[in-house]
Amino acid sequence: MRKAVIIGAGMTPVGEHWKLSLRDLAVEALLSAMDDAGIDRVNSLYAGNMVSGPFVEQENLGALIADWAGLGNIPAVKIEAACASGGAAVQEGVKAVLSGLEDVVAVVGVEKMTDAWPSDATRYLAYAADAEWELFHGASFVALNALVMRYYMKTYGYTEEDLALFAVNAHANGAKNPYAMFKRPIKVETVLKSPYVADPLKLFDASPVCDGAASVIITTPEKAKELGVPKEKWVEVAGMGRAIDTISLASREDLLTLKAAKVAAERAYKMAGVEAKDIDFFEVHDAFTVMAALSLEALGAAKKGEGAKLAKEGQIAIDADYPIQTMGGLKARGHPVGATGVYQTVEAVLQLRGEAPSQVPDAEIGLTQNIGGTGSNITVNVFRRV
Ligand code: COA
Repeated sequence: MRKAVIIGAGMTPVGEHWKLSLRDLAVEALLSAMDDAGIDRVNSLYAGNMVSGPFVEQENLGALIADWAGLGNIPAVKIEAACASGGAAVQEGVKAVLSGLEDVVAVVGVEKMTDAWPSDATRYLAYAADAEWELFHGASFVALNALVMRYYMKTYGYTEEDLALFAVNAHANGAKNPYAMFKRPIKVETVLKSPYVADPLKLFDASPVCDGAASVIITTPEKAKELGVPKEKWVEVAGMGRAIDTISLASREDLLTLKAAKVAAERAYKMAGVEAKDIDFFEVHDAFTVMAALSLEALGAAKKGEGAKLAKEGQIAIDADYPIQTMGGLKARGHPVGATGVYQTVEAVLQLRGEAPSQVPDAEIGLTQNIGGTGSNITVNVFRRV
């Protein structure tokens, strides 16, 4: 069977990029990934993006990015799966390589969010919720996640302080990441004293609105050899899975189970021939602190109801058993929504090459999990050091 390896990775810093447009960000990340791989051509391009239409009045991103990068008449499309667009775009790129239809594929995740008014940004993001059952009633993503957070705390007896530990861990790692939006460590008190956005969810329980782009180059080991890419750069895409769940929370069988993550992880683990216990680090989708807890449970790193316990026991730090958010996660690196899954991939690549600013010792297998909606569309990818 054909295999897929990532041979190049690049990204822009995450933040408020007043002087760079969406295309500038995307092309900067893409050229940096191509430069990392030492190549100047790709056969096709997949652009992960969630809401460029409402935010910057630009669609047709595949053509925009490939054209602006001077890549000629290659096939190029946008992949949209809400906040999981980046993870899904990586999977489409890998599928193209595994199918044999494409040899060298570029994946670019990009989002430009800070040009919009905050109230507009909140509404555009909520387009990925259920328009008739949620958005119509004024339920934003912050509000929906606040409901889940309250129910999680009530069901399992956790406090706001317990969940704050996820933000503290993310900021501790983000502080060392030159590409992170927030580069300062915080304390539990920082989270607890931050203003409520939707009770019990506070400013520091949430990922920020921001801009950024990340990119990876995918090919086969045979082609990587032919292109002369040194083996130290290769990272294998060992497994992938994707699944959906009900789009509205009201229809969900169990509010506290990320079923789509569970199903996607089972598929990814099976394809990679690994189990949760084999994973050296988890880049989970901590758009809100409670999502980090639920993700750890769905991925099999913690039992149901015990995701926050892992944080309380100090098990999510870089040198602990279940390192998460090794470069700051969505909370501190930032969450340029459609780009996030590609940022996670770049971070996994850096960890597995031993080049991460907060290096997980002897990392061999890493996992990225990218959530769209309030758990309605989830991708899980497993990467292995070559
Ligand atoms: N964590 C920590 N600090 C944050 C932050 C965050 N998530 N978001 C903003 N800040 C800081 C800003 O840097 C700024 O600091 P400064 O005053 O020192 O410059 C301050 O808080 C105010 O920033 P502002 O941009 O005015 O915040 P806001 O009130 O407009 O937005 C949120 C804050 C939480 C409402 C917004 O970030 C948000 O909606 N986040 C969730 C995004 C989302 O839903 N993503 C999709 C998930 S599925």
